[in-house]
Amino acid sequence: MASNRNFLWSRRALLGAGAGLVLGTALSPWPTRAADGARRLSAASGQAFLLGKDRPATQVWAYDDQVPGPVLRFPQGKPVRITFENRLEEGTTIHWHGIRLPIGMDGVPGISQPPIKPGETFVYEFTPPDAGTFWYHPHVDSLRQIGRGLSGALIIEEQEPPVVDRDLLWMLADWRMTDDGQIAAGFGNPMEAMMSGRIGNTVTLNGRVSAGEPVRAGERIRLRLVNGALARIMALRFEGHRPMIVAIDGQPCDPHEPKDGRLLLGPAMRMDVIIDMQGEPGRRYRVTDDFYDELAYALTELAYDTEQPMRTHPLDAPHPLPPNPLPEPDLAAAERHELVLQGGMMGGGAMAGLGGMAGGGMMGGGNGMSMAGMGSAGWAINGSAMTGDGQAGMPPLLTLKLGRSYLFTLRNQTAWWHPMHLHGHSFRVLSRNGTPVPHREWGDTVLVSPREAVEIAFVADNPGDWMLHCHVIDHQMAGLMTILRIA
Ligand code: C2O
Ligand code: CU
Ligand code: CU
Repeated sequence: MASNRNFLWSRRALLGAGAGLVLGTALSPWPTRAADGARRLSAASGQAFLLGKDRPATQVWAYDDQVPGPVLRFPQGKPVRITFENRLEEGTTIHWHGIRLPIGMDGVPGISQPPIKPGETFVYEFTPPDAGTFWYHPHVDSLRQIGRGLSGALIIEEQEPPVVDRDLLWMLADWRMTDDGQIAAGFGNPMEAMMSGRIGNTVTLNGRVSAGEPVRAGERIRLRLVNGALARIMALRFEGHRPMIVAIDGQPCDPHEPKDGRLLLGPAMRMDVIIDMQGEPGRRYRVTDDFYDELAYALTELAYDTEQPMRTHPLDAPHPLPPNPLPEPDLAAAERHELVLQGGMMGGGAMAGLGGMAGGGMMGGGNGMSMAGMGSAGWAINGSAMTGDGQAGMPPLLTLKLGRSYLFTLRNQTAWWHPMHLHGHSFRVLSRNGTPVPHREWGDTVLVSPREAVEIAFVADNPGDWMLHCHVIDHQMAGLMTILRIA
């Protein structure tokens, strides 16, 4: 099904498993938690043992000297105050991906704030309205900054969380490692930007290549999955287990099993699943990612301890999570717009003519749509392209009326997959190629397959200039990005 398999690097590094620890080069002078809802955070260069302790340390950029950054947990509906210090050698910001917050706190350079200069501090303050699994990452020099290790999970806790034995987080990341265990240079390769983006050769789980994650027979786990990769799409299969999806992009849904048993996660997407550990004590069960044909690999294994099951009877099916206070779009009254995704290399399926296409620069514009606004960009939305990370003075593609409902068709005319992300809002995903989605679902990032048309709807209830972009970061930087003004 995947179209870019020949572009992937070898799976060699994926197989070298080992437990890893993360060490920082410097200790933070600050306590990490000052009081409830208030904390400090920093970004600096450091090192991490992504491949295991017996392998060389990798030079990284890290939040609080950890890769991934610390898991930030805050209660729903309570003010959060994060004093962030930039100890990198370049400007940065933090974007709180998926949190509905005021535009000034959204971390988009030139729109929310100027980049925070080296040595400077910025205070992020917001009150998260929704409980769920979110994440944070920079929005400046995003390929390099995220690709060198700057990202972390952000968990907003329900007042009444579901009853489970353990609440686990798997923050997944994808790295392109050199043979000596360093992060390969070459971010922003223009050829990659026209295809799948920078897909790596090493996938880590909570900052290390994982050989196994300990579990106990009979326990019920809430597992929060975050795809923090720059470009890699993942489709996870839990051998011998039946995960139930209870939330997508932090937003609760009716508990259901995934289609074909695969949890499909584009970059930036999250899923909360409830898994009952029904395997046998002492056994191991593989968790595989088989999104890219012929490049399936074992992400990890569920490693059962030898203890007897902690319960003898299976539990009842999980209840839905408590709902978040999302504004329900009025579909009958919604104003409709079509957003056409354009560009990239044609014929992503086979990739056989890679060399030839590289010279020719053949673009997937589609149906004679004007590509005049694209300039040197490789991708566009409705013929216009915004490149980079966000800049001052970007004109909005559309101006939406505050409080009104909108229904967008995201029409992918390209040969590539795009996880399309809207800032500042969550939207309902209504249909794919005209077929209603089987379960009512909300998201902030929707994965659109090649040639697919996806309908989404939302209430434009948050004033500001909000980015809508592909979360394959190479695609974003090369033009698959626009701004919606809500006023
Ligand atoms: Cu997760 Cu504009 O980003
Ligand atoms: Cu975002
Ligand atoms: Cu894309």
